[in-house]
Amino acid sequence: MPHYDAVIIGAGAAGLFCAAQASQRGLKVLLIDHSPRVAEKIRISGGGRCNFTNRELDVRAPQRHFLGENPAFCRSALSRYTPEDFIALVRRHGIAFHEKHRGQLFCDRSADDIIQMLLSECADGQVERWQPCSVRGVASAAPQGAPQRAPQRGGYEIDTDRGRVEARSLVVATGGLSIPKIGATDFGYRIAQQFGIPLVERRPGLVPLTFDGQAWAPYAGLAGLSLPVAIRSGEGKASARFEEDLLFTHRGLSGPAVLQASSYWRPGTPLQLDLAPGSDLAAQLREAKARSRKLIANELAAYVPARLAEAWVQQDAEWQRPIREASDRALHRLAEALARWQPTPSGTEGYRKAEVTLGGVDTRALAQQSMECRSQPGLYFIGEVVDITGWLGGYNFQWAWASAHACAQAL
Ligand code: FDA
Repeated sequence: MPHYDAVIIGAGAAGLFCAAQASQRGLKVLLIDHSPRVAEKIRISGGGRCNFTNRELDVRAPQRHFLGENPAFCRSALSRYTPEDFIALVRRHGIAFHEKHRGQLFCDRSADDIIQMLLSECADGQVERWQPCSVRGVASAAPQGAPQRAPQRGGYEIDTDRGRVEARSLVVATGGLSIPKIGATDFGYRIAQQFGIPLVERRPGLVPLTFDGQAWAPYAGLAGLSLPVAIRSGEGKASARFEEDLLFTHRGLSGPAVLQASSYWRPGTPLQLDLAPGSDLAAQLREAKARSRKLIANELAAYVPARLAEAWVQQDAEWQRPIREASDRALHRLAEALARWQPTPSGTEGYRKAEVTLGGVDTRALAQQSMECRSQPGLYFIGEVVDITGWLGGYNFQWAWASAHACAQAL
C-alpha cells in the first residue's frame, strides 16, 4: 500500500496551504479532494477577487474578529502566521493587490492568482494531488483488536476510489457546509464523530436574513436599496455592533452590515438598527419644521434614501403630511423609529447563501499549537471545519492560512 507522511483531505484554502508548507519541509504529502475543480471557494470569494487577508487583524485580541466557543484558541496560530506573512508570499508571486475597506486586501486581477500561487507552492514541494477522488472511509491503522478511539501512533488507512493509502498523519481540511453545490459536505464532522471528537453545533454565518412574508410586505418594494447603517445583534458577550452598508432584498436584509450581524444573531431575537447613523434626526426634523413647506418624506430624504423615506412614512398617517403641520411628537416618533428599528428575522437564507459555517470541531479537543487532536495523535483538523469563524473581510482566509501553517510545522 502506498505510504505518505501526511494525507490531507480537502484541497481548499487550508488544505492547499498545509500541503505546500508540509511538502516544502520535505514531507511526502498526498492531497485528496472529491470535487473536479480545485479551490472553488477561493475562486468565487470576494466577488471573484478573493479578499485574502485583513491588515487590521489584531493577533493579540483575536476575539475582536473571530467567533467560536473559545475564540482565544486561534491566537497561537494567528500570531505565528500573520497577515504580513501571507502578504509577503503574495508579493513574492508578483500578485497585484489593493486595500478596499478597513484593511481588506483583494487581488487586482482575479482570485485565480491566489489559486495558481497555492498550486505552484504545492508543485515546489512535489505534492501529489488526487482530484476528483472520493474518500470511502478512514481508519486508524492500529494493531488488530486495539480500540479505535485509543490514542496511538500507528497512522491511518484511507480508502479512496483510487485505492487504499497509508499515512502517518491525517489532516482534515474539508471546510464547512456552506454552498453545497460547489462541493461542501459534512465529511469533516463525520470523521470527528468517528473518532469521538466533540462538535459544537453548526449554523450558517455571514448569511442574509429573511422575514415572514406579511411582516416584510411594507419593505418588499425596497429590494435593491442599499444604505449605510449601524447594526447590533446578539446578546451580552456574544454581541457585536457594526457600521456598514445594509441591502434590502425581496425576502429580507443583506449587505455587509447584515452578513456580519447574522453571525451573532439567534432565532427569535431582534436586530437593533440605526438607519440614519451619525445624525440627530429628531433635532434635524424639528429644525426643518420651522422653515420648510415640504412633505415629511421629502425632508427625510436628506438623511436616508428617498425610496426608504417614502416607504417609511406610509406606516403612519401623521407622517404623510407637510412637515410644518406635523406635531413634535409625531416627528420624534419618526426619528426614533428610524434610529431604533428592531425587526425580528424569521430565519436565514441557509447554507445555500451562507459564506461560512459557525461551530464545528470543538477547539477543546485540539492542541492550539498544532491543531492535532488531543485524544487521537496524528489526526488534525484545520480551517473552517474547526469551531473558529471570522468576520467578513478576509479573516476566514487568514484563519485557513494560519491553522494550516501551524499544522504543517507539526506534521
Ligand atoms: P474550503 O471550503 O475552502 O475547502 C474545503 C475543500 O474540501 C473543498 O475543496 C471541498 O471540495 C473539499 N471537500 C469537502 N468534502 C469533501 C469530501 N467528502 N471528500 C473530499 N473533499 C471534500 N473568506 C475570506 O476570508 N475572504 C473572502 O473574500 C471570502 N469570500 C467568500 C465568498 C463566498 C461566496 C463564500 C461561500 C465564502 C467566502 N469566504 C471568504 C469564506 C472562505 O471561502 C472559507 O472560510 C475558506 O474557504 C475555508 O477554507 P477551508 O480550506 O477550510 O475550506
